[in-house]
Amino acid sequence: MFAILLGAPGAGKGTQAQLLMKKYGIPQISTGDMLRSEVAQGTALGKQLHEIMTRGDLVPDALIMQIVEKRLQAPDCFNGFILDGFPRTIPQAEELSKFLKYKMHIDITVVDISVQDDVIIDRLANRRVCGTCKKVYSLTVNPPIVDGKCDRCDGELKHRADDQVETIRKRLNVYHDNTAPLIRFYRNKKLLHRVNGLQKVDDVFRDVEKCFNMNKNAKEGYTTGRAVVEAPMN
Ligand code: AP5
Repeated sequence: MFAILLGAPGAGKGTQAQLLMKKYGIPQISTGDMLRSEVAQGTALGKQLHEIMTRGDLVPDALIMQIVEKRLQAPDCFNGFILDGFPRTIPQAEELSKFLKYKMHIDITVVDISVQDDVIIDRLANRRVCGTCKKVYSLTVNPPIVDGKCDRCDGELKHRADDQVETIRKRLNVYHDNTAPLIRFYRNKKLLHRVNGLQKVDDVFRDVEKCFNMNKNAKEGYTTGRAVVEAPMN
């Protein structure tokens, strides 16, 4: 399974990527997590990234491409990967297409998880992430058993610096200007599937899996070509 999860901040990309990773044993490549790990190391680059991310802006394309291309060449990516939060701009998507075609010789399934902005603001204001194992919680949908502690590893739960309401609004604007155009980009390439991200997590997962099966069946000749491609929005 080679997948791109598209969607606004807080649409549930990370939640679905973790479920896919667990079920299919392939890595989640989250550019946000990779950048936060650089920030946590306190390097000069990390300090610059922290400033950009806390403002809700995008990190420059050239730096992102360097990080992603290196990561995709690691042996654990040869049998599949889930891209979460990448690509985020048309230039990133164009570079990725070239890289996948010439270096990895693969096609990819693109799933856009659709959720409207007002729901997103609420979700992100209520998101908490374990500082140790990175498990994601929602104070409203899946709260931890003990307040402030991770159920899985007892780590401390954190509210991300960019999950403050003003920064969330900025991230949404950046998403609509720079990332939403990727929906058309992948639709034109007949690679796009869309699922309704407003459903319960398990129901979103069921629909995400359907998208992969539709693509697989199309490739195996069960349907007439690959030109399917919008899963029904329930
Ligand atoms: P990144 O970390 O990628 O953030 P994001 O894309 O804004 O996405 P999030 O992690 O906020 O949300 P998500 O869709 O994963 O939702 P989640 O599953 O956690 O990027 C951060 C920053 O890094 C960017 O702003 C930018 O500066 C930089 N960056 C990263 N990649 C870049 C790139 N390629 N180019 C340039 N810059 C880049 O869910 C959210 C909450 O909702 C959780 O609490 C969860 O429990 C809950 N939830 C999930 N699903 C459901 C559901 N179905 N129903 C109810 N609640 C749900």
